[in-house]
Amino acid sequence: MSHTRIIPADPIGIAEAAAMIRQGRPVAVPTETVYGLAGDATSGDAVAAIYAAKGRPSFNPLIVHVGGVAQAERIAILSPLAHRLALAFWPGPLTMVLPMAPDAPIAGLVTAGLPTVAIRMPAHPVMRALIDAVGRPLAAPSANASGSISATRAEHVARSLDGLIELVLDGGPAEVGIESTIVAVERDRLRLLRPGSITVDMLAEAGGVPIDRQEMGAIEAPGQLSSHYAPSKPVRLDAVTADPGEFHIGFGNVPGRASLSARADPAEAAARLFDMLHAADASDADGIAVAPIPETGLGLAINDRLRRAAAPR
Ligand code: TXA
Ligand code: MG
Repeated sequence: MSHTRIIPADPIGIAEAAAMIRQGRPVAVPTETVYGLAGDATSGDAVAAIYAAKGRPSFNPLIVHVGGVAQAERIAILSPLAHRLALAFWPGPLTMVLPMAPDAPIAGLVTAGLPTVAIRMPAHPVMRALIDAVGRPLAAPSANASGSISATRAEHVARSLDGLIELVLDGGPAEVGIESTIVAVERDRLRLLRPGSITVDMLAEAGGVPIDRQEMGAIEAPGQLSSHYAPSKPVRLDAVTADPGEFHIGFGNVPGRASLSARADPAEAAARLFDMLHAADASDADGIAVAPIPETGLGLAINDRLRRAAAPR
């Protein structure tokens, strides 16, 4: 890919970005917290392209950005407590981790197979216009290379991801400058997963419930969420052939019962990974066998996830 273009976040720029996102090509966009790398949350291929650009070595679940509460409710189940927080802080820098709605139109890769989904209604007018123009929820991690700090200006994004993404919409410096507060909303309590500009006191006041400060970083290394989806069936890796009773997941020249990517494309495999693990787990098979995946590019993240799925438990 050639140099990354930076264009103004005016109506022409937003229209161009929306067209690219509809084609599955991620675009960096301003939000009030930090710049995000936005893609169509309903498309596994689009989400795989986000991970590929960031060079993430594992699949950390992504935040889904919505334009309104109605769109949020198609994706997640909002309890009365969640509604109180939405009323108080949306649009704005609050992300809520909620149970996924049945038949949510979200690619499995967005949540890395979790039964919960992180949702935020951003306040930034450019991000809101983009969600409207695309007409779909947008998955967006911070727009920086994996392991480097978040970007608060279009130039930071271009420096961090130059040649890895096509386009940055320049909406000026981000107002908040730190990532959104993330809170897991449970029945009648809240768990703080990431501190941000919406504080614990603000959450307690608006929610009227106690808050556990169990920060994610304190208990879990990136991508090692304890609640991570693990199949209920045993998983065997590097399987060129299947044993009797196994659901064989293929890749490349290993066909399997179903293939992650017959053309050995790691992006296609990433896009299908979690949906296929769910399908294999729900099948009549006793175990799951997975073909070898090369340890390069997105293959690193796929293998990281597969090793977790296969780990003894
Ligand atoms: O301000 C923000 O939140 C920015 C802008 C672009 O919206 N986005 C952002 O995304 O910071 P990211 O991917 O850099 O951080 C999202 C965090 C990750 O640490 C991820 O593990 C967590 O959200 N997360 C996402 N889904 C989750 C879930 N279902 N359960 C627990 N944590 C989740
Ligand atoms: Mg980040």
